[in-house]
Amino acid sequence: MATAYLAVRLVSEFAAEVRASLTKPGQRELPSKYLYDEVGSALFETICVLPEYGLTRADARLLEKYSGEIVGRLPSPIRVAELGSGSGKKTRWILEALSRRQKTYYYPIEISPSALAACAKELGQIDLVSVVGHEQPYLEGLRTVAEGRGEQDHLLVLFLGSTIGNFDRDAGDEFLQEMRAILRPGDALLLGTDLEKSVELQLLAYNDPAGVTAAFNLNLLARINRELGADFDLAGFQHEARWSSAERRIEMHLRSTRRQTVHVPAANLRFMLDEDETIWTESSHKYKAEEIAGMAARTGFRCDGQWIDREWPFAQNLLIAE
Ligand SMILES: C[S@@+](CC[C@H](N)C(=O)[O-])C[C@H]1O[C@@H](n2cnc3c(N)ncnc32)[C@H](O)[C@@H]1O
Repeated sequence: MATAYLAVRLVSEFAAEVRASLTKPGQRELPSKYLYDEVGSALFETICVLPEYGLTRADARLLEKYSGEIVGRLPSPIRVAELGSGSGKKTRWILEALSRRQKTYYYPIEISPSALAACAKELGQIDLVSVVGHEQPYLEGLRTVAEGRGEQDHLLVLFLGSTIGNFDRDAGDEFLQEMRAILRPGDALLLGTDLEKSVELQLLAYNDPAGVTAAFNLNLLARINRELGADFDLAGFQHEARWSSAERRIEMHLRSTRRQTVHVPAANLRFMLDEDETIWTESSHKYKAEEIAGMAARTGFRCDGQWIDREWPFAQNLLIAE
């Protein structure tokens, strides 16, 4: 009964957010978090191994090389919460380093049930590591974990893969401030940030020739068809990645290739798209290594360490709650 109620609540939230974002004055949008149903999470895993998407490999290289040093800077005892863990593959390095000094509780926080299950499978077998997944939005999940810890326990929050880049810059600061309010002084945040590089490389990373990122983006419309009974004709849309030099971000859009009407029954919505009109589905902001310390200072942290991958400019930043 409780599960059925939750499922109905989630569908009505999805429908309400789809309606609000598609009817926004000006640019139509869809919230990027809905990219991650079971199909989307599987496609994202494939994106992570594409030759053009160097981001995940850079993140992993840094964790493999520096996890010992990062863990050496953390207080003890400490529990680990990961926001949007995905499959959690890269997190193994941190958990193995921590488990060499203490029994470790690891809490992946995810809205994608299939990603959460993959993560529990991936990391559930490490000696002295106990995995407890939370199928919740980021801060709701973090609050649950923070409230459940003992007086002496510190927290390490992992926010890897440059997922912070999905937030507009002001919203990113606000998110870090809200996260800080849940933490205690001395708690840590390991924040992965993709750094600016040539526009050509950045565009290729979000528009691979094999079309996996296009499928990931289009699946959002397919998901709305499946879950909200909509009639998006996927053949009438094209994936588009744009670089905004003013905002220093990649934007993913879905371009309507003709004038068309779409009906989303569960959202009580019918609307018309012009030829070449786009729906904006995701942003990935890029950073300069030197701007992270300022971001930390504005949001109640100090930057205690920064490790940079030179092959694919990407920074791992260790922030400590003040
Ligand atoms: C860009 S992927 C990154 C995955 C992984 N951390 C990595 O670095 O490869 C973002 C992940 O966050 C999850 N996610 C997106 N929005 C979320 C939210 N509001 N609350 C919890 N999880 C969310 C998605 O399901 C997805 O697995």
